[in-house]
Amino acid sequence: MTTPDETAVYLRTSEWYGPLNKDAFIHRSWMKRGHPDDTFHGRPIIGICNSASELTPCNQHLDDVADYVKRGIWQAGGVPMEFPVTSLGETQLRPTAMLLRNLMAMDVEESIRCNPIDGVVLLAGCDKTTPAMVMGAASVDLPTIVVSAGPMLTGRHEGRTLGSGTDLWQMDEQVKANETTWEELGELESVMTRSAGTCNTMGTASTMAAMVESMGIALPGNGAIPASDHRRRRLAQLSGRQIVDLVQKDVKLSQLVLRESLENAIVMLAALGGSTNAVVHLLAIAGRIGIELTLDDFDRLGSNVPLLANIKPAGEFLMEDFFEAGGVPAVLAELDDLLHRDAPTVTGGPISEYWRDNKTWNRAVIAPTKSPFAANAGIAVLRGNLAPNGAVIKPAAASEHLLVHTGPALVFDSIEDYKAQIDDPELDVTVESVLVLRGCGPRGYPGMPEVGNMALPGKLLQQGVKDMVRISDARMSGTAYGTVVLHVAPESAAGGPLALVKTGDIVTLDVPNRTLHMDVTKEELALRSATWKKPQPRSERGWSKLYADHVTQADTGADMDFLVGSSGSHVPRESH
Ligand code: FES
Repeated sequence: MTTPDETAVYLRTSEWYGPLNKDAFIHRSWMKRGHPDDTFHGRPIIGICNSASELTPCNQHLDDVADYVKRGIWQAGGVPMEFPVTSLGETQLRPTAMLLRNLMAMDVEESIRCNPIDGVVLLAGCDKTTPAMVMGAASVDLPTIVVSAGPMLTGRHEGRTLGSGTDLWQMDEQVKANETTWEELGELESVMTRSAGTCNTMGTASTMAAMVESMGIALPGNGAIPASDHRRRRLAQLSGRQIVDLVQKDVKLSQLVLRESLENAIVMLAALGGSTNAVVHLLAIAGRIGIELTLDDFDRLGSNVPLLANIKPAGEFLMEDFFEAGGVPAVLAELDDLLHRDAPTVTGGPISEYWRDNKTWNRAVIAPTKSPFAANAGIAVLRGNLAPNGAVIKPAAASEHLLVHTGPALVFDSIEDYKAQIDDPELDVTVESVLVLRGCGPRGYPGMPEVGNMALPGKLLQQGVKDMVRISDARMSGTAYGTVVLHVAPESAAGGPLALVKTGDIVTLDVPNRTLHMDVTKEELALRSATWKKPQPRSERGWSKLYADHVTQADTGADMDFLVGSSGSHVPRESH
């Protein structure tokens, strides 16, 4: 074990542990509990912000990861202090984990700020846990590094592979089309989730793990090393060493996450065919750091980027294949010309060092830029009289023939309304119809659930229909696919024009021209608007009321209006 250079940098924790007085006595005495006297004198105290929870299955193994982070911290002369925070299990939480993302971010922020720590390692994994942690940490701005949970191994069964979520959506369609039954699919429950880790598709968790790596706030390899591969432990251990170095050099999160870093993430998001949820999360993270990032930046920077990763839901393979093919660094290497090569990282070197000497081992999984899986990937931002402030679609996950489509709207006022009608054999719907779901935005649900990829009408599935245009103010799972227009802003509950569309109105989606239009005159819309009634709030107390009263719209990140920005790390008042 090394002893840190005590003159290297001012340590924030010296305010707690440094003085010879009553207050510092309390801080030291209550913490010592077997630690030698020099533990709280001159050594960086590193918080390990751990979102492990048995109710967050994708993060269950983070206690093991924390052990390896601690080893690295001790090796570098720091002192690890692990603490728990709110955790969000995407598949378990009702009515949606997104309702609690900002609550978790608030917990993370106050836990970091109010405790005696000099730097923090964020242990994140399942979808919302990564953005919530980075948002919270950004509003404090200590030296920070992220270690992700890592994806599960590939599910394998009777010669087929199973991708988290993506294959489930297909099974659901097969059952509805009477091709199989849930009884027959029973064994696949155990196969789909075969090992520790996050979804093995390029869903939101894998996307966000790749985003933090591309932004340089996690070590290279973070995005794709499987959870159960021992190289994940090595990465955790190295991250423990690195955070001590960051504290000693006083490199704060805001010095690493620059506009250039976010632009690199947007390019990477496109090349990976990553989750549309990353749009909302990156906007929220930018808001915490004070960087002006807009929805249009995603289209401007990402929509001409080639699709280089052949991973479900936009492709065929899974995260284990992606890791073996070279992972995030291999894709970054292909994007070299499109990236800010000098963007800073936790290593102290530029991001270009992440792909120095990197090779791609499987061209079926990671394509060269000159022969990509699709010429233009990324997120397309649509505007028009249905979405004045924007809506998003992932063309790589959509059907080519539906990217320009005109058809009559079939409107559902809520997810309950949709569920009650969608499988009715008498439902007046054809393959030309445009399914419109409203009341599912940040304020309306509340929480902006992942219901935008609504399953197709049962009777059309039975006829072999595979895709239709769907429009909503909701999000969709990063593991989902289809010609799905999401995040319509303003949402219907905020009085956006989505609230005014009626069944039978002719709607046109034109992705090449970036428009989303309903063929209804301004005068008619004004008439409908005059009689529109704001929906009753779904909750009159607690977090969901606070959330619905203060959440911003999807096009600005769906953060709480009072949480945007930073309060820094200084806490002037003592506790006694
Ligand atoms: Fe946790 Fe997919 S449900 S990562």
